[in-house]
Amino acid sequence: MAQDPMQHTGRETTQDVVVELQDAILTITLNRPAKKNALTDPMYGLLADAIERAESDPDVRVVLLRAEGDLFSAGNDIADFSRLAEQIAGHTAGGGAGQSADQAATGTVAAEPGGPASAITGQMNVWRFLHALAACTTPVVAAVQGKAVGVGTTMLLHADYVVLAEGAQLITPFVDLALVPEAASTLLLTQRIGHVRAFAMFALAEPLAAEDAVATGLANRVVPAESLLDTARQVAGELAAKPAGSLTATKHLMRNAEALAPVIDREIAVFTERLAGPEAREAFAAFAERRSPDFSPFS
Ligand code: COA
Repeated sequence: MAQDPMQHTGRETTQDVVVELQDAILTITLNRPAKKNALTDPMYGLLADAIERAESDPDVRVVLLRAEGDLFSAGNDIADFSRLAEQIAGHTAGGGAGQSADQAATGTVAAEPGGPASAITGQMNVWRFLHALAACTTPVVAAVQGKAVGVGTTMLLHADYVVLAEGAQLITPFVDLALVPEAASTLLLTQRIGHVRAFAMFALAEPLAAEDAVATGLANRVVPAESLLDTARQVAGELAAKPAGSLTATKHLMRNAEALAPVIDREIAVFTERLAGPEAREAFAAFAERRSPDFSPFS
């Protein structure tokens, strides 16, 4: 039988994120397959809106996160990263407020609260999404096929039930992009799989295969690609039939959202500083030019 790894819903739309409520399940679909579901800031805005809706709309009992195409998500849109880096650099050109002589010399910028970079990043939807997801008490089921890269993987650390298609891989190449991990993953991934494995994923971009993700507690099960969506829907349906108050209270007790928020903020500050630096700009240029980056000029 021919496989349909894309698990199409049959819906035609040009929206990059599609949100549908049916049978108390709010399905959020990443729908930018031509760009491997790379996430832009407007997409994060739609994702944040959807998660905030799940928390406030009593008709929503479960969130189902999925993606169209052969791959769950290629992570943050690197062209967006590049534009943001230029914007921050422009904002701080000539030594903006909060920029030290050392930062001016190295091309990094102050990202501490109130610093010039935070004035820009504080407005960004990605941080609203990450905070909303970390604080979300509605159960989140995720269905993942192909690769989940960067934030495509780190967002899964906030899901409560993760179904992977056979052959799926979790990849977090933050250091290869001269960045640092986000979404509280420096804490959560380390807690889940231990320091050395988390370090290898972050620093060496070692992919975690689907079976290993289950073995290490990052996912619940691996299923054939053609049954990925049905399996995730079945789990979401089971959860939707449970007493919602008890379910959200259980999740709230299990997750320490209050402790995660400062971790997310601390990561954001360093992430922003790295983003606007020369190493990251080399990494983004290399991706755009489809070549290997050369970090040798930077100390
Ligand atoms: N940001 C922006 N565009 C991206 C992207 C990203 N993160 N990932 C993929 N794309 C784009 C490609 O530029 C290409 O666009 P084009 O068709 O206009 O040239 C298109 O999506 C298809 O990507 P391609 O690389 O040809 O697909 P692939 O199946 O060979 O490889 C990936 C898929 C995900 C392995 C590869 O695209 C990749 O490594 N992407 C970068 C992942 C990353 O580092 N993300 C950031 C993590 S912090």
